Amino acid sequence: MEKVLIGVAWPYANGPLHLGHLAGAYLPADIFARYHRIKGNQVLMVSGSDQHGTPITVRAEQEGKTPAEVAAFYHQDFLRSWEKLGISFDLFTTTETANHAQVTHEIFLALMQKGYIYRNMMESPFCSRCQRYLPDRYVEGTCPNCGFQNARGDQCDECGKPLNPTDLLDLRCKICGATPQIRETEHFFLRLTAFTEELLAWVRRQTHWKPNVLNFTLRFLEDGLKDRAITRDIEWGINIPVPGFERKRIYVWFEAVIGYLSASKEWSQMTGQPDKWKEFWEDPQARTYYFIGKDNIPFHTMIWPAMLMGYGGFNLPYDVPANEFLTLQGRQFSTSRNWAVWLPDYLERYDPDPLRYFLSINMPERADTDFSWEEFVRRNNDELVATYGNLAHRALTFTYRHFDGRVPEAQQDERDRALLSKGQASLDRVDSLLGQCRFRESILEIMSLAQEANRYLEEKSPWKAIANDRASAAGAMLTALTLIDGLKTMLYPFLPFSCQTLHRLLGYQGRIEDAGWGFGRLRPGQKLEKPVALFIKLDDTAVEQEKARLSEAAPVGGKAA
Ligand code: MF3
Ligand code: ZN
Repeated sequence: MEKVLIGVAWPYANGPLHLGHLAGAYLPADIFARYHRIKGNQVLMVSGSDQHGTPITVRAEQEGKTPAEVAAFYHQDFLRSWEKLGISFDLFTTTETANHAQVTHEIFLALMQKGYIYRNMMESPFCSRCQRYLPDRYVEGTCPNCGFQNARGDQCDECGKPLNPTDLLDLRCKICGATPQIRETEHFFLRLTAFTEELLAWVRRQTHWKPNVLNFTLRFLEDGLKDRAITRDIEWGINIPVPGFERKRIYVWFEAVIGYLSASKEWSQMTGQPDKWKEFWEDPQARTYYFIGKDNIPFHTMIWPAMLMGYGGFNLPYDVPANEFLTLQGRQFSTSRNWAVWLPDYLERYDPDPLRYFLSINMPERADTDFSWEEFVRRNNDELVATYGNLAHRALTFTYRHFDGRVPEAQQDERDRALLSKGQASLDRVDSLLGQCRFRESILEIMSLAQEANRYLEEKSPWKAIANDRASAAGAMLTALTLIDGLKTMLYPFLPFSCQTLHRLLGYQGRIEDAGWGFGRLRPGQKLEKPVALFIKLDDTAVEQEKARLSEAAPVGGKAA
């Protein structure tokens, strides 16, 4: 049995999530977790809402609320979305817990004791009109790396480079637009320069990483890392465990990545096995995967690993399968222009599995991919309903009607055996692909088996054979149902809701996850349940309605009640 720790990017609790977030990190993480669980492996999947930092305070100021109110609101919103989408976290906590602050302090102090965290003066923009320092997102300017004009003080969204505010050219205050002064202020720094060599040697060995993740990281490290400030002049966040710094806070990114560890500990406590987290963090046989969008790569392939190297004793990331971006009707998602499909909105109107299907078969794994409502409706109707749903429905209703509601006993011929061994081969291939986080190829393989099963049923035409050759019809149904049973297993990580239903319709009791991974397990004689359709066809009018909603301007803060 393998042990798999799955860390998923902690979303800032400053707005609802959209399809891009789902396709980028949450869905692939969930597919991977469900795959390992149905295989019988031990999985711990954790994340939580990222409640600190300037993303939250800027939003709170815009809405006239406290940061705590904004964060608490979106935390609940996230929990509802995970529930409805079936994103099966073992724990989705927040960075506001006492446990998280304590674990953060412990790491901070340990790194400081080892000399990896030190105090120094730094220059920071200060707005004399607003009378405040302008850390991170309070300051904007031109990126020194790529020339993008609206780079923020913490990172350039265009080229992905992490930045310090004073790296930016033409600084401006985000709140009032004034040109800030530069002031000296004392902060703590993480000695990243001490880790460049060790990181380089380690990253060069990660040949199983996706080329984009590996190359991006190597390019970065080859330029050499710079020490980075890990505290801020701000009032909201985790306090600094050193006297004299009462008015400053720990930088949101420094503590958010620690969340993976603190959440694992919280989960251990919560489930009454206080040392269980160690099995995922300390056993070198356990593997750790971080599912994140590509804008978060540097923090997971360099900064967090450097912190782990400095602290010592914990597993480094095994893989960081960061996805590329999803676009929406050919354009980038944009919160401020309301060019987005928000998860809570989608879930009010549609089922989770059709979305999970679409985003799996169009997952931006190696390149950006696009979501369009036309394609969504087409794939739902032509693939999910017509290819897979109808296959299951036809086979189940026919068997239910003609074979007394049971899986028939039957002789199988050459053709049956060939197809069944193809089914087994598909399952093995999907097994290997899923283990390598190749989700899109997996679901393509599965759908091609479903097509094959459809062709087989056409050929065998049991609805004609039943009148004069009942044995042949029985053979066809046994083969078809066996394939459907296998499809159900392979599709479970992708489509957990409808696969659980199908599991029940095929006459099994209990949770599909407990039934395990395998092919060819359906026993003749098993009593079926009365069939129901797994999916519904969507009307084409949905396309126009949904597109009309996209262009309706919604205020940035309009989602919080
Ligand atoms: N909150 C960050 C974002 O939304 C992601 C944090 S991931 C973690 O971009 F590593 F910090 F946990
Ligand atoms: Zn200002």
